[in-house]
Amino acid sequence: MNTRKSILADGILPFDARIFDGLPDPVFAVDLDLQVVDANQAAKNFLGDNAVGAILNDTLVSKSVLETVKMVLDGTPIPRSEVEFPSPISRTFEMNLWRLPGLKSKGPAWVIVVLHDMTAMRRAEQMRADFVSNVSHEMRSPLSSLLGFIETLRGPARDDSEARERFLRIMEDEAKRMTRLINDLLTLSKVESDEHILPEGKVNLGDLLTQVANILSVRTEARNMKIMIEKLPEPTVAKGNADELVQVFQNLIGNAISYGREGSIVRVEVAKNIVLPGAKEPRVSVAIINQGDGIPAEEIPRLTERFYRVDKGRSRSMGGTGLGLAIVKHIVAHHRGYLEIKSTLGKDTRFTVYLPAAEATRPAS
Ligand SMILES: Nc1ncnc2c1ncn2[C@@H]1O[C@H](COP(=O)(O)OP(=O)(O)OP(=O)(O)O)[C@@H](O)[C@H]1O
Ligand SMILES: [Mg+2]
Repeated sequence: MNTRKSILADGILPFDARIFDGLPDPVFAVDLDLQVVDANQAAKNFLGDNAVGAILNDTLVSKSVLETVKMVLDGTPIPRSEVEFPSPISRTFEMNLWRLPGLKSKGPAWVIVVLHDMTAMRRAEQMRADFVSNVSHEMRSPLSSLLGFIETLRGPARDDSEARERFLRIMEDEAKRMTRLINDLLTLSKVESDEHILPEGKVNLGDLLTQVANILSVRTEARNMKIMIEKLPEPTVAKGNADELVQVFQNLIGNAISYGREGSIVRVEVAKNIVLPGAKEPRVSVAIINQGDGIPAEEIPRLTERFYRVDKGRSRSMGGTGLGLAIVKHIVAHHRGYLEIKSTLGKDTRFTVYLPAAEATRPAS
């Protein structure tokens, strides 16, 4: 006997799931034969269009969901549980179930299942936990190095003035790295909290890039490199916040100097009137290109994660915190811009920032 039909014929369906069609959470009812007797739109999207009338099995839902539904149907109260749906992509749901008893002679009991997607929240919790553990780890290594040197200076190197100088220099570098780490964390937290407020102002990119090249001149000379800014004949102006954009280009050009080949040229290309697919507003772009080892394609999507470095040792030896590109990503997002990374192994690496264009203000005549 088709239970759904009999329930429908008796007109005793526990509810009409269509009233929950506007809900983002899947809601469905299952009868004693494990047949899905009704489902809202979210449940149909989740279980498949033919879910209503189907028998709940372990291909439709996971084994643990099936077992829980059976237990509740048998009368064991399990008000709430957390379940995993492994495919097509792993998702975590909070599952609420309750059993409605059969109405006297009219029909059997059934269970109503409500699923609430917790995947994003669980992922955010995991990211927060990873972040705290990463920060602690990043702080611990300069601190233990400082403590080690303090001990050595008190003990074996007490009267060795040459060693003292050398150790103090290392201690200074470590302390500076920790200061940089804290400053980068503060920048990141400020940019994140302001991300919903659109930056006001106009920035002449040519002038801003020249300013950044000047700030970085000592580092450029130290590696016998040159920065060449290929400006357009007319001013290229972006909508944005000058201080934040200085930070973006300082981090990107800084990376090009750190990871570029010694003695090579870092090219900076400015372009305007770019229309990205699907966007109406014209963009301006700045590309920073350096010659060097390049970045393997599989590493590129992870570069903007906090503390992610392709070569940890190399980044650390240059005093890197691993937060530079995470800051770039957030500032670019704050500007409603777009960051593109392309690299050819053994040849060159190109970071391009696309920003909303602004009208150039004409000088008063
Ligand atoms: N132009 C580049 N060429 C090759 N690798 C790069 C380039 N830019 C970034 N990377 C890689 O991406 C990683 C992350 O860069 P990011 O700027 O976030 O951190 P960092 O340079 O290590 O430290 P800091 O936060 O102090 O800048 C680097 O460690 C490096 O491995
Ligand atoms: Mg960097």
